[in-house]
Amino acid sequence: MENSRAQWSSKLGFILAAAGSAIGLGNIWKFPGRAFEGGGGTFVLIYLLMVIFFGVPLMLTELSVGRASQANVVGAFHKLGHRNYSWVGWVGVVGAFVITCYYSHVGGWVLRYVVGYAFEAPEIYADPLGYFYAMLGYGAQGATFFPWIAVLFAAVFMLLNAVVIIRGVEDGIERFNKIGMPALFIILVILLVRAVTLPGAEDGLRYLVSFDWSKLSFQTVLSALGQAFYSLSIGMAILITYGSYLPRSENLVKNTVLICTMDTLVAVIAGFIIIPAVFATLGPDQVGKGGGFAFVSLAGVFEQMPGGRLFAVLFYLLLLFAALTSCISLIESIVAFLTEHFNWERKRTTIWLSLVMFLIGCLYTCSQAAYPLKGIWFDAVKGVSFPAFCDAMEFLTDRLMIPACALGVCIFVGWVWKPESAVAEIEQNGVRFGLKKVYEILIKYIAPLAILTILILSLATGTTLS
Ligand code: PFF
Repeated sequence: MENSRAQWSSKLGFILAAAGSAIGLGNIWKFPGRAFEGGGGTFVLIYLLMVIFFGVPLMLTELSVGRASQANVVGAFHKLGHRNYSWVGWVGVVGAFVITCYYSHVGGWVLRYVVGYAFEAPEIYADPLGYFYAMLGYGAQGATFFPWIAVLFAAVFMLLNAVVIIRGVEDGIERFNKIGMPALFIILVILLVRAVTLPGAEDGLRYLVSFDWSKLSFQTVLSALGQAFYSLSIGMAILITYGSYLPRSENLVKNTVLICTMDTLVAVIAGFIIIPAVFATLGPDQVGKGGGFAFVSLAGVFEQMPGGRLFAVLFYLLLLFAALTSCISLIESIVAFLTEHFNWERKRTTIWLSLVMFLIGCLYTCSQAAYPLKGIWFDAVKGVSFPAFCDAMEFLTDRLMIPACALGVCIFVGWVWKPESAVAEIEQNGVRFGLKKVYEILIKYIAPLAILTILILSLATGTTLS
């Protein structure tokens, strides 16, 4: 039974854990592909603006709701006196649940590649696509079988998460992040030096710093905004949970700016690693996004790079740390809710929850493989459709739940709890918040309008926004 609430033992512990949540597959896997598609430097610049104007204020808002309420994500809205808004917390918890189901499986694939490059790199180089498909249950000549490799590695990945969560906030999450995050930064720097010193990397570098007006479109702006939310873990109520473990003495503004800077830095550095490396080894037409890119195209990069195998292991280790620390934050916010709301015991809750999410995740992996599992979706253009189960899961979180939860937080803080209360929470302990007027306007008018636009557009046109 969780009686007294856990707290971070130190400022650094919190910062690393929150940065660990933000820095994940979204930064290292999704961002470079999106930056390439969105015109390189053009996308990077717009992304930076989105982080400054929407990311920072929303993160600050979620952290202040968490710290003011000292409660889990559903309890937070009750505690701040507005039962009617607890749906926002529910959307957050359910969203985190759905994301974890598939995030943990992709995490398992990453683990598979750490082991793969360490022990059987020549097999990957010989047939990168075949190796990826074999993991998902496709054999030679159209043979298909249960994707047991992917499932097995996902099980190990989930187990690693559960062990950390069971140990608790301070002993588990904080301690893991204190090791994982510095390791991640070190590996990142090593890879950056490797990538930019490859002969031919200049073209990729030039692409990432050049601004091209013709690439600027509404779609690019939306894509950057969706990516910023996903990358900063906004709209999943995780920051409310992590904020609730923060003591009053902490300066929320400084912490927010630091976390957003670290997250953005990692995304941009990942772009500066992957794009120049792909330009230098495979050529620009090979830069893509999605699973195929992180797992298939990069094989060619490592194969052609001196010391490639070592750098491959380092790269997937980097991705593994990033995925673990993000997945831990997702599970923690669900566990915090379940243990506090239903008075369940932490260890047993974590074990059962991890098991259920792992099993649902198996459906995600199977639908990537040969099993024709379908989900259901609706958008105004195509009407009712039956996409693959894995796509339906991602649509549900990226197109609906993340924007809906972020919108709910903005409406709640902007119009019900009031920005002045958030500012009062932020200014605890004599902190001065110089930009509070700008913040109030952003949270009351601009952010909800922008998010509503995302929500409507994604449901109306079926555009993928994150
Ligand atoms: N921010 C993480 C990433 O960039 O991979 C993913 C994520 C974690 C999204 C937690 C949402 C979330 F609540």
